[in-house]
Amino acid sequence: MDKILVTGGLGFIGSHTVVELQNEGYEVVIIDDLSNSSEKVLDGITAITGKTPIFEKLDLKEKDKVEQFFAKHNDIKGVIHFAASKAVGESVKEPLLYYENNISTLVYILKELKKLPSAGFIFSSSCTVYGQADELPITENAPVKSAESPYGNTKQIGEEIISDTCKVTPNLKAIALRYFNPVGAHESVEIGELPIGVPQNLVPFITQTGIGIRQELSVFGDDYPTPDGTCIRDYIHVVDLAKAHVIALGRLLQNKNKSNYETFNLGTGKGSSVLEVVKSFEKVSGKQLNYKIVGRREGDIISAYADTEKANKELGWETKLSLDDAMRSAWKWEQKVRGNNN
Ligand SMILES: NC(=O)c1ccc[n+]([C@@H]2O[C@H](COP(=O)([O-])OP(=O)(O)OC[C@H]3O[C@@H](n4cnc5c(N)ncnc54)[C@H](O)[C@@H]3O)[C@@H](O)[C@H]2O)c1
Repeated sequence: MDKILVTGGLGFIGSHTVVELQNEGYEVVIIDDLSNSSEKVLDGITAITGKTPIFEKLDLKEKDKVEQFFAKHNDIKGVIHFAASKAVGESVKEPLLYYENNISTLVYILKELKKLPSAGFIFSSSCTVYGQADELPITENAPVKSAESPYGNTKQIGEEIISDTCKVTPNLKAIALRYFNPVGAHESVEIGELPIGVPQNLVPFITQTGIGIRQELSVFGDDYPTPDGTCIRDYIHVVDLAKAHVIALGRLLQNKNKSNYETFNLGTGKGSSVLEVVKSFEKVSGKQLNYKIVGRREGDIISAYADTEKANKELGWETKLSLDDAMRSAWKWEQKVRGNNN
């Protein structure tokens, strides 16, 4: 079976994707510098799949190391590139760190892929490229809006770099996957999301509040023009998301792609408000969540959810897991991580 490089493969989405790749029989090599993950994640992947992927601890900003890696693994058929820095707030404070880590790593990898006789490349992009879209649900044809943060800009620039490179590199085929809001954990709870410090995302903040690490959840604004006044997002279970990567990769390796650079939205197509997510947590955990409504947060868009038709039809992929499934697994994972069965 083909050998696939997964960069950032010990991170949240990467680790779940490695599991699905190994379940499909791919040989996986992970590169990760452990800047936002732990080598222990390998044990979780092994426990689920019965197979330990090859792991190379390497910082992709080190160009020479990237070259050496590809010289050693010259039989790589595809790359799924997750490695990036992803904290929006930090990117505003440290833009150069984000431009360096998210852009230089991409360029170094593409330079190596250009040398191969053929290669498939999957890029982790984000619905952030759409900003507050004029029409909902959001299709892939919605205009890309001016980025709200350096992080968001790295995804837009990343897509442009890949598209420009594909135009002049016939042996390179690429897909940018625009994720909506990935949540949840593997049902085995061997792997899950491990935010460092105060979580930036709603679901880990909820589960940490539920377990008592955070005192209360702040809900930013209940006066938005939505049914319950809180912001709406499209929460997609990380296992559904991981499976889409395997399908997208197969599309490239089997030459089923329609052009050598494609984009797909990955979401459920259903928007859920902050209060609906809180209710789902309360339902699956049997706990009442401590939360309070506070003022709006600057930069928050009102509502974003995916039009999934292109991914459903072209990739033949659709989500199978619900928001309750995601919240149940996220809660089980939180309890496991804290060694707490309350
Ligand atoms: N989680 C989300 O909500 C979300 C939404 C949209 C897009 N994305 C994108 O998906 C990708 C994966 O996100 P995630 O949530 O799994 O993040 P994550 O931080 O859990 O995983 C990223 C991994 O990349 C590694 N890494 C970072 N810089 C590296 C470098 N220079 N060299 C080697 N390894 C490096 C980190 O150690 C980490 O293990 C990222 O590109 C992110 O921007 C995430």
